[in-house]
Amino acid sequence: MDARILLLPGDGIGPEVVAEAVRVLDAVAGRYGHRFTYRTGLVGGAAIDRYGDPLPGPTRDALRECDAILLGAVGGPRWDHGAVRPEAGLLALRYELGLYANLRPATLFEGLEAASPLRPEVVRGTDFLIVRELTGGLYFGKPKERDGHQAVDTMRYTAAEVERVARVAFRAARGRRRKVHSVDKANVLETSRLWRDVVSQVAEEFPDVALEHLLVDTCAMQLVQKPTTFDVILTENTFGDILSDEAAAVVGSIGLLPSASLGERPPFLYEPVHGSAPDLAGRGVANPLGTILSAALMLRYSFGLAVEAEAVEEAVREVVREGVTTPDLGGRAGTQEVGAAVAERVLRRET
Ligand code: IPM
Ligand code: MG
Repeated sequence: MDARILLLPGDGIGPEVVAEAVRVLDAVAGRYGHRFTYRTGLVGGAAIDRYGDPLPGPTRDALRECDAILLGAVGGPRWDHGAVRPEAGLLALRYELGLYANLRPATLFEGLEAASPLRPEVVRGTDFLIVRELTGGLYFGKPKERDGHQAVDTMRYTAAEVERVARVAFRAARGRRRKVHSVDKANVLETSRLWRDVVSQVAEEFPDVALEHLLVDTCAMQLVQKPTTFDVILTENTFGDILSDEAAAVVGSIGLLPSASLGERPPFLYEPVHGSAPDLAGRGVANPLGTILSAALMLRYSFGLAVEAEAVEEAVREVVREGVTTPDLGGRAGTQEVGAAVAERVLRRET
């Protein structure tokens, strides 16, 4: 197939990890006879430096002419005190493209038991998917303002917003172990009580999927006590942000976690869960696997290339098993070495 991919490398380690994902996508194209064409755009701090805008006009134009987007990371201390923050570019991108469902799979890879702070017998077999609502809640609710010594953020959800993301979670559960934990704070928050009601209603359309409601503080605790009991975790924007970093720590490194942000229509956005890691930037040691696995999700969700996606994921598992990893996972390989090792295994793959 022919596909147009917009690359938004962004800031910090973003460009380094995106380059390795492109190397792997090229291997997929070569091995399976596809053609991927790339355009590169500016987002985040890099775009502020050039245009004074974290999501500038040329990037917005490019969004309309691509089939999928691969983003590296945005942000860094350099832009922390400016009038506009790099993160605003990413948030605008998610909001304007209507990417309300953020999928973040967290799997413990064989050979990485020691990278987790949890005991091996607790963490072994961990494999769950966080479905995070991405265009509502505190991130976007109005009013959102600062007035001298007072500030306000607004948590707002409509039933329709909860319903559509709940459907994504239940559908995903059908392809997995058929269990959804819906996470909220219904003992305190009105938005959570709405969330709980709507999710329960949606659950009736999926009698084959088990639903359990869980308070977010309890969920945070159980994620480290018994991570293997989770299959699909469905939650709102801010809770999902927090729980996904916790999930990353559970499975060994935030450098490993990919994400897909989906909406009603393409283009969809793929990005690693980690940030721009300014301390690692330019040193060639950043872990590219989260971005490579995000590219695999692109193959699966945007292009319907399930076999190719599996080839990339299997190549990543092999590379990890063989210990070709960056220092965050206890290895001694560099960013490019890891990317090349994955690409090479994809090229050599037989199916
Ligand atoms: C994430 C990040 C972003 C978020 C930041 C960079 C705005 O932490 O994708 O998890 O909070 O959504
Ligand atoms: Mg986050």
